[in-house]
Amino acid sequence: MEKVKILAIVGSLRKDSLNRQLALAAREAVGGRADFSLLSYDDVPLMNQDIEYPAPGAVSRVRGEVKAADGIWFFTPEYNHFFPGVLKNLIDWLSRPISKEQPQVLAGKPAAVSGITPGMSGTGIAQDHLITLISFLNMDVMNAPRLTVPNAMGQVDENGRLKLKGSYPFLKTQADDFISFIG
Ligand SMILES: Cc1cc2nc3c(=O)[nH]c(=O)nc-3n(C[C@H](O)[C@H](O)[C@H](O)COP(=O)(O)O)c2cc1C
Repeated sequence: MEKVKILAIVGSLRKDSLNRQLALAAREAVGGRADFSLLSYDDVPLMNQDIEYPAPGAVSRVRGEVKAADGIWFFTPEYNHFFPGVLKNLIDWLSRPISKEQPQVLAGKPAAVSGITPGMSGTGIAQDHLITLISFLNMDVMNAPRLTVPNAMGQVDENGRLKLKGSYPFLKTQADDFISFIG
């Protein structure tokens, strides 16, 4: 049997992003049970209906990666109690039909949501907004468990690299549950 494919979408373009590091920790927690890749999308242009059809190359590529995935795992920062604009821009592109014959690629896809922040909110408020959006787009959202990691600096090493301690069992449980959820 083929392994399920999980595509991680990180809502931060920052090289040292904590959320990117959380996604890498999730890849470890998943281990050999699924193919786990991170979507690269920093070349996706700002949504502008003047350039919507034919789709820019970067948009076609990310649509293809989402379509090929069995599940999407979002890792979102919290910006002003919301999820970042780069993620909204990506989802706006993904929300549009590919063509008259081909619908948008998010509908029906299993989705999990996690996030990490140096602050105490743990990204919970941003996650609520993200879930409102992806539910509107008919994604199949795993509402529980979600993972919120507050006070990230309590779980980084002396070089500022994320080394999950107390949060790791919760990440592992979310990985286990998401693999079952995808089925
Ligand atoms: C524009 C902006 C707004 C932010 N707003 C919040 C916020 O509302 N809540 C919070 O906990 N952290 C907030 N932060 C801090 C981010 O959580 C922090 O920079 C985090 O490391 C970003 O995620 P990343 O490491 O994955 O890039 C904000 C940062 C930026 C740049």
